[in-house]
Amino acid sequence: MEQNIPPETGSSENTDGASVMRPAGKKVFVKTYGCQMNVYDSQRMSDALAADGYAPTDQIEEADLVLLNTCHIREKAAEKVYSELGRLRVLKEERSQAGRETVIGVAGCVAQAEGQEILRRAPAVDLVIGPQTYHRLPKVVQRARGGEKIVETDYAIEDKFEHLPQPQKRVVRNRGVTAFLTVQEGCDKFCTFCVVPYTRGSEVSRPVAQIVAEAERLAEGGVREVTLLGQNVNAWHGEGADGREWGLGELLFRLAEIPGLDRLRYTTSHPRDMDDALIAAHRDLPKLMPYLHLPVQSGSDRILKAMNRKHTGDDYRRLIDRIREARPDIAMSGDFIVGFPGETDQDFEDTMQLVRDVTYAQAFSFKYSPRPGTPGADLGDQVPEAVKNERLQALQALLMEQQRGFVKSLVGSEMDVLLEKPGRQPGQRVGRSPWLQPVIVDEKAGEIGDIIRVRIAESGPNSLFAEPVS
Ligand code: SAH
Ligand code: SF4
Ligand code: F3S
Repeated sequence: MEQNIPPETGSSENTDGASVMRPAGKKVFVKTYGCQMNVYDSQRMSDALAADGYAPTDQIEEADLVLLNTCHIREKAAEKVYSELGRLRVLKEERSQAGRETVIGVAGCVAQAEGQEILRRAPAVDLVIGPQTYHRLPKVVQRARGGEKIVETDYAIEDKFEHLPQPQKRVVRNRGVTAFLTVQEGCDKFCTFCVVPYTRGSEVSRPVAQIVAEAERLAEGGVREVTLLGQNVNAWHGEGADGREWGLGELLFRLAEIPGLDRLRYTTSHPRDMDDALIAAHRDLPKLMPYLHLPVQSGSDRILKAMNRKHTGDDYRRLIDRIREARPDIAMSGDFIVGFPGETDQDFEDTMQLVRDVTYAQAFSFKYSPRPGTPGADLGDQVPEAVKNERLQALQALLMEQQRGFVKSLVGSEMDVLLEKPGRQPGQRVGRSPWLQPVIVDEKAGEIGDIIRVRIAESGPNSLFAEPVS
């Protein structure tokens, strides 16, 4: 399965089949904002550029190419990009005075949402490339190096899936024992607060064979845990090896057959796409970790309706009951938005009640941020900032209490831990529990990549200290 991987030196085939000479000794710095899919995409951009002679660097000053892989989800996320671009303009000038050229590129969801506007607001930028177009990146960079200003935002996502090169085995090994794998991209749900359907396009699933090949490649490179990614990962569907239509549940069963892959996770799911086969996978598949990130956003039926979530608070409660029946030790995680337009004290109290009813092991909560082009931004009755702040504080205090309670409840129990990296203190290793908490053990307990049995001795706010058991 090495046929897509060009040799380390000399000229190579780019993804369009044309022969190109590589610039010698060029370096690329990639800065990633936003969700896990951007983390995955940044690695794939690095892989595409590696085939073109660019080595990754974490020293921005020495980079010939700087790429910002951006996020548009909330106003703050998008604005961060422009302040970073201000700093990069200075860096570009300094390097230019020293006779070195720097190409600056903006990728990701801000690139897709704002396109040309980025070149207007930040003239130091040379190229703007949308998330569906990364397989074209080496070509686009070459053109930018020739002095062109480029905006590329309109390719079909299927092209990206088909043409993005895979990392070399050595690169997989260096990236560690856990990995992301995108199986689905885009969203057709159109929640009224959310930019994702506009930045990532409509839902597209990768074919089974592509996903299995990538997972096998990761396993061969020493990866032991794979997290399947999608904006609505449980909307994934495709034709299975048996000729039948598969959903994510069936796909997980197939991936569990791959030797060496011992832990599977997936994120992010939508409550409406949790089907019976996926719930059955939680019951019957020991490799599927007992952790589920299932955002609900609000506990108020009125607000859920205004958000276009197409389910009620009770639908969600019943769903969680079914999942817990299938897998009693499952830990729940979620996302919440406070201060959606029209949210009253009672609506907010409904959210607090839902959190009390469900009990989360972990959760992310945000103040509503009106996004240009989304229906929510045009609604009247926007909630004042001070009220949003108050509600966020109250919600986060409750969620934090639940998180601490969950972590404490693990003390004294035994569990399997995948050792991932050296600890902060000498002589330590850090692994992860099935429920995603970092677990700190003595380095003699095992090598990185081992899954070891431990007993939890002590807990911190979110991490655990453990002793190996034989
Ligand atoms: N696809 C996922 C999540 C996408 S974005 C899902 O459907 O759940 C991640 C989280 O950001 C969302 O779950 C939501 O809680 C939050 N979010 C999205 N748009 C937002 C906005 N305009 N303001 C505040 N939070 C937002
Ligand atoms: Fe955004 Fe809703 Fe789609 Fe999630 S399901 S990406 S919140 S529109
Ligand atoms: Fe942000 Fe785009 Fe992900 S908006 S959260 S980077 S899909």
